Order: sequence, then C-alpha cells, then structure tokens
Amino acid sequence: MEKTSMEKITNVDVCFGCAWGDEGKGKIVAQLAKSGKYNFVCRWAGGNNAGHTVYVNGNKYKTHLIPSGVFYGIPSIIGKGCVVNKEAFFSEIAYLKENGFDTSLVKISPKTHVVHTKHIEDDKKNYGGQGSTKRGIAPCYRDKYARVGSQVKDFMEEFREFIWDGKLFGNVLCEGAQGMWLDINFGNYPYVTSSTTLPYGACSLGFPPQLISKIYGACKIYDTRVGTDTDFPETLLENKDLLQLAKNGGEYGVSTGRMRKTNWLNLDKLVKSVQISGTTDLIVSKIDILRNFGIFKLYFQDTQMEFKSIDEMCLFMKLKLEETCGDFLRNIYFSGDPETVVGLK
Ligand code: IMP
Ligand code: MG
Repeated sequence: MEKTSMEKITNVDVCFGCAWGDEGKGKIVAQLAKSGKYNFVCRWAGGNNAGHTVYVNGNKYKTHLIPSGVFYGIPSIIGKGCVVNKEAFFSEIAYLKENGFDTSLVKISPKTHVVHTKHIEDDKKNYGGQGSTKRGIAPCYRDKYARVGSQVKDFMEEFREFIWDGKLFGNVLCEGAQGMWLDINFGNYPYVTSSTTLPYGACSLGFPPQLISKIYGACKIYDTRVGTDTDFPETLLENKDLLQLAKNGGEYGVSTGRMRKTNWLNLDKLVKSVQISGTTDLIVSKIDILRNFGIFKLYFQDTQMEFKSIDEMCLFMKLKLEETCGDFLRNIYFSGDPETVVGLK
C-alpha cells in the first residue's frame, strides 16, 4: 500500500442502508468488491454493532467490524469515524485467519476510538431502554465527543501490525453500517445509533464529496426494525401476517439474534431516504420473500395501499421513485436472491 501512496483517488462509490439496517448491504458490497475494480473497501462509522453476512464460494461468513474487502483480497480500512473493541477486533481477525483469509489486508486508523469494557457495562446498564446492541457504542461515542476517549494510537503495541495512516488512492468503495433512520442526525432520536450512517459520513475517510460517483442505497421490499423505536410499536409483533412475513424472511438480527419488528414498506420514508442521501442506484431486496408470501402492501402518503401482485407493487414503487428522485436516481434493482443482485454494475 505504501509505494503508490502518492497516487490520487480516482473514484469513490458508497453503499449505505436506506432504512434501519439489515437491508442487505453485505450482499451488494461483496458483489461490487468481487468485480476487482476497487483498491480499498472502507468502513466509515459504527463498530461491532453491525452484522454483515457474506457468501464466498458457497460458504456463509459473518463479520461485525471488518469491511468485506478482506474476503476478496482487497485492503480493508476501518476509518477514524468507527469505534473498535479490542477483543471483538482480534476475535474477528482470528476468525478470518482460521478461514484462510489474508488478515494483513486489514488496516485501522490510529484515530479510531476504542470501546472499553466500562463502555459495554455502561451500555448494558443505561441504554437498554433504547434497545441498543450492548456493544458499548453510545458510551464510546459519548467519550469521543466529550474529548475524553482513547484512540487506537494509545494502544500502539497491540494494534501495531494493523495501524495505517496512509492516503487512499485509486478506486475506493465505502461500506455503510446501520441505515438512514438510525443516523444520529436524521433518525428518530434517541432511537438511533451514535454515528453518521449516511453517505455524508463517508467523507470522514479522507476525500472530498465531489469524488463520489455512485451511491448504492440498500433497502427491502418491507421494513424491519431491531431494537426499540416508537415508529415500530411492539404491537407489530401481534399482527399475524407481519409476524409470519418476519419468519419467512428470516428476520433475526445477525449481531443480537433478536426478532426484527416487521412492517409494510413505508414508501414516503424511502423517498426521503433516497433524496437526502443522493442515492443513484437503489437495490430493493427480498422480492422473493414477499412474492411467495402473497400479500402486497405498502404505505404511501400515510395511507396503506394493497396491490394484486408483486409486479404491480414494484411498478408503483418505480413510478413514484422516478417522479420524486428522477434527477439523480439512475437505476432501481429489484432483487430476489440472497447472494446476488442480477445486473448490478
Ligand atoms: P447501538 O448502535 O448498539 O447503540 O444501538 C442503537 C440502535 O440501533 C438500536 O435500536 C439497535 O438495535 C440499532 N442497531 C445498531 N446496529 C444495527 C444494525 O447493524 N442493524 C440494525 N439495527 C442496528
Ligand atoms: Mg447488517
């Protein structure tokens, strides 16, 4: 990585979640990384509260912290906007090694903040009401912003082989964690995470916004929420259609194993999410799940609508998204395959 550090960044693409996390970002990032055109895959926010599922050569892998580039031989950077728990980091490194991946590709900024045991204990004790993942995320960011936190560079010896303070170059892919409505500024505060989950946050990796060309927005054909949120009342778990849909869709958290509260897609929120993020390519996943389920509903202009078929519902979504976001939204992919997005470029 060092030799060519004088080279410029030629292009940046960003993949982020348009909803509440769990939108299938892992599958999109993996497919893009596989194309071989990126020099780096970077995470800009969050910690091991995220959970990414990636399929490599037919095997399923799960990571929480380390960007998916490592699965495809690409340098994978944990940026300074992230937070890192030492135990979680080194156990993920061990897991990757055991599975034959080259962990020398994993790099972390000296400015990344460190999640300590006291943060995790504080999270368990005081943030349960917000349904946090109990990974110490909020207390760690609290200390960061109060300017009393500690950074990776304070643990030089331990992180030595992974620390990287170099400049990005070439073609960069940024991998989001969580999603639009968990963003600290845009979400339903305090039912949010403590970082910037939108593409604007990716610039903290060290590039100007003009270099971003594609913004891949990930969502599902229905909405899910893990954790407490007044926009997702517990009564959703009593709706037998929605409960069945959650079961069919395997809607259990990768990080926590909790069942996700499920609701019909809120198209008004999706439009806002696409508009605010500047999504150029929208990937709507789990089409297969809803098609087989056979009930096709969404909320539009605060009203529930029902369609006769999945095709009719997707067409309606496409028309409304084109009407409202057509200036910059170039492609909409409807994906019904857990491993690939057909035709994604
Ligand atoms: P924290 O990020 O652990 O503080 O949790 C704050 C909120 O964000 C909780 O409601 C979590 O359930 C939610 N959350 C955090 N990370 C993820 C994720 O990767 N997917 C979905 N929800 C998440
Ligand atoms: Mg996830």
